[in-house]
Order: sequence, then C-alpha cells, then structure tokens
Amino acid sequence: MAARLSQLRITGGVRLRGSIDISGAKNAALPIMSAALLCGETLTLENVPALMDVVTMTRLLEGMGVKASALQSGHLTLNGADIHHPDAPYELVRTMRASILVLGPLLARCGRAKVSLPGGCAIGQRPVDQHLKGLIAMGAQIRVEHGDIHARCTRLKGARIVMDLVTVTGTENLMMAATLADGETVLENAAREPEVLDLARCLQAMGAQIEGAGTDTIRVVGVQHLHAARYAVMPDRIETGTYLVAAAATGGEVLLTGAAPQTLDATLEKLREAGAQIECTDQSIHLKMHGRAKAVSLRTAPYPAFATDMQAQFMALDCVAEGTGVITETIFENRFMHALELQRLGADINIQGHTAVVRGLPRLQGATVMATDLRASASLVVAALVAEGQTTIDRIYHLDRGYESLEKKLTALGATVERIG
Ligand code: UD1
Repeated sequence: MAARLSQLRITGGVRLRGSIDISGAKNAALPIMSAALLCGETLTLENVPALMDVVTMTRLLEGMGVKASALQSGHLTLNGADIHHPDAPYELVRTMRASILVLGPLLARCGRAKVSLPGGCAIGQRPVDQHLKGLIAMGAQIRVEHGDIHARCTRLKGARIVMDLVTVTGTENLMMAATLADGETVLENAAREPEVLDLARCLQAMGAQIEGAGTDTIRVVGVQHLHAARYAVMPDRIETGTYLVAAAATGGEVLLTGAAPQTLDATLEKLREAGAQIECTDQSIHLKMHGRAKAVSLRTAPYPAFATDMQAQFMALDCVAEGTGVITETIFENRFMHALELQRLGADINIQGHTAVVRGLPRLQGATVMATDLRASASLVVAALVAEGQTTIDRIYHLDRGYESLEKKLTALGATVERIG
C-alpha cells in the first residue's frame, strides 16, 4: 500500500506463467468488518486482504470506538464493545463508497447513526435510496441534511422489504440491520452475490438467524445479541478473474490456488469461449491459453450472470483478440472510462450508449495511461501486459484499493513490472 502518486510501469509481451495464491475478497471483507459493529464481543477474521479499502474501513470503525488489531498475515480482530461515536465522516466515505455499510449495523446496535452521503463516483451516480427505504420500512427515522444521512430508531422492527432493484451493499446493509431487529425481516429481490452469502455465514457464526442468503429471498429473525466469532473471508472472485484474463490475453498458463471456482461460472464460461483450456478443483483453477484469444461478447447483470466488475478486463482481452466483441454494461451508467485509455494504447473501440463494440487487433502499443477506477485500472494492467514496449499507469492508488500485492503476484507470473514513486 504505497503513496497515492505512484505509477506502475509494465513492459508488455511476456506470457504469464506460474502459480499464485488468491487473496481474501475485498467485497466480502468490507461488509464482514462492518458486522463487528453489531456485537459487543470480538470478531476474529482470517483471510482479510491487505488493501487500502480494508485500512479505510478499519479507520472508519476505529473512529466509532471499535478496537482493531493491526492486520497481520490476513488476521484482524475487531471489538465493538464500546461504540461511542456512530458517525461516518465525509473524509473517509468519499474515498470508499462501501462506508455506507456501517449504516444498518449502527442503527441496529446504537439506535442512531450519522453517515455522510457517498455522492457520485467515476462509474456513475450510485444512489443509496434502497438502503434508506428498507431501513425506513423497519421503523427508522431518516433525514438527509447538509450531505449527511441522520438516522434514528428505538429498536428496528422486522418488515417485508421488496427492493426495486438488485443492490449488493443494500442487501447487506438491510440483512445486518435485521439481525438485531424485533421479529422477522424478509428481503425480496435480494442480491445473490457470493459476498452476500459470505456475510450471512459470518453473521450466522455470530448467532444471527438467517435463511435464504444466496437466493433472492432472505429471511432474518432478529435476536437480542450477537456474540464473538471467528470467520475466514472467502477468496476474491474478481481478483481471480483478473489474473485469469491476464493469463489468457498473454497466451499464458497459470495455476491460481486458494480460489473459489464455484463463484466464477460466468467468467470461466467466457474464458472458455475465448479459447482457454480451464480445469478446476475445489480450490484451484488452472488456465492454459493456446495462441490468440477469440473475441467474446457479454452483457453485465447481477450474479450469477456476468459481473460488472469483470467487464473492463474482458474489454482489454477483446482489444487483442481475433474478431469483434460486443460488450453491454447494464449495472452502471458510466463504466466505459477505461475504453478511452485503452484507445491510447491503440485499441479499436466504438461506444454507443451502454454498448462497446471492440474490434480485436493483433497488437497494442505501450503509452502512458490513467487509472480512473478500480476495475478500469485492472483492464489497463491486462492491456499493458500485451502491449508492445512500456506502459505507464498513473493514479494506481485505485489498484491498491482492490488488488493485494499486485506487482509481487504479477512478477511471480513472469511479468516485467515496477512501481515508481
Ligand atoms: C457492489 C460492489 C461493486 C460492484 C457492484 C455491482 C461492494 C463493496 N461493491 O457495489 O464492486 O460493482 O456491487 O455488482 O460490494 N442502486 C440504486 N439505489 C440503491 C443502491 C443501488 O439505484 O440504493 C443502483 C446503483 O446505482 C447501480 C445498481 O443499483 O446502478 C447496482 O448497485 P449496487 O449493487 O448497490 O452496487 P454496490 O453495492 O455499491
């Protein structure tokens, strides 16, 4: 986790080869960490990735009174015995939208919360109306004033909540709030992402009564207290997918261990379509790519369909594949910013609204490009690995938010990569 002004310099043209371990999932670790607010005893976590977002979430929780140990070899303990300041300030929320995940737990545990509104971000508006609607249905009083959400309640009450759209952190927030509510909460049109299931399993280990996580109907019967637990965060399916795409784009062969192949069906299917040979065990994925990839078309949608967090990386793959790929983004309205940067490397991409038509070229050329968000940055890394010559990626603090030991892992796979600054 280096300074914000670092750049990554990659010399392309090497086929990735070798084996690396996959880290714990950022998008599971963040909600699970905020679950520590629900309980007065210690939550002991394993397989927590060393990422900037995890540091930010730790700071956020510490500001509220949570006692946190230093993150070491994936271990982190969080003790929420004394939550004296249920406030998520703008300085932290603006650097990490997932900060909104503290709202439900704070309200359920303390009966009050002040959380700064996340605001817009590079990939789109990302409102939190569904989070608020659900909490109001559970009896919370909420007003938004001067950019802050102010929420209050006595004890939250179980309710049947039909979400207007599928939201991952919205589902997680409401599921956490419901664990301490009075009576039964039913969440309809819930997100089915594996990270929601991972959070539910951690909450169950803490004594919560939850059924149906991983389906679109989740039932939670509130309890009076949650208790201490130990839980290992699931493997990161997006990190896994990113290394698989990088290996496929470079015509390489990699073995990823400590992975969860069962959470990657849509990604693996597209990689096979691109020509990769893939074999999985319970916890590992072996990918071998013969020659140049074939372009694939895809459409992002909520799990189990193709993940929006993998869209940018596949666009980079299509840029150097044989044929033309059509990529449609249905989750976020402004998630093609990487396309402009990929064009700086010579890519042929034509964007019409939510659809990008990518004509594969035999090669890209190295250039200086700018990371705009986390997964956009990952696509630039993939493209840089196949481009001729050197590519310098600016603003890589985005990558540090979500990829643990990126240079170390890429180097272990044979890439020529260095961090500057
Ligand atoms: C989570 C992931 C993010 C991923 C995204 C979609 C975490 C920490 N982040 O983000 O990596 O890209 O899921 O898989 O888990 N929406 C509303 N109102 C709401 C909530 C969401 O309109 O109250 C919209 C959003 O603007 C977006 C769509 O719903 O268009 C899905 O967003 P959502 O699933 O909530 O994304 P996050 O949970 O923020």
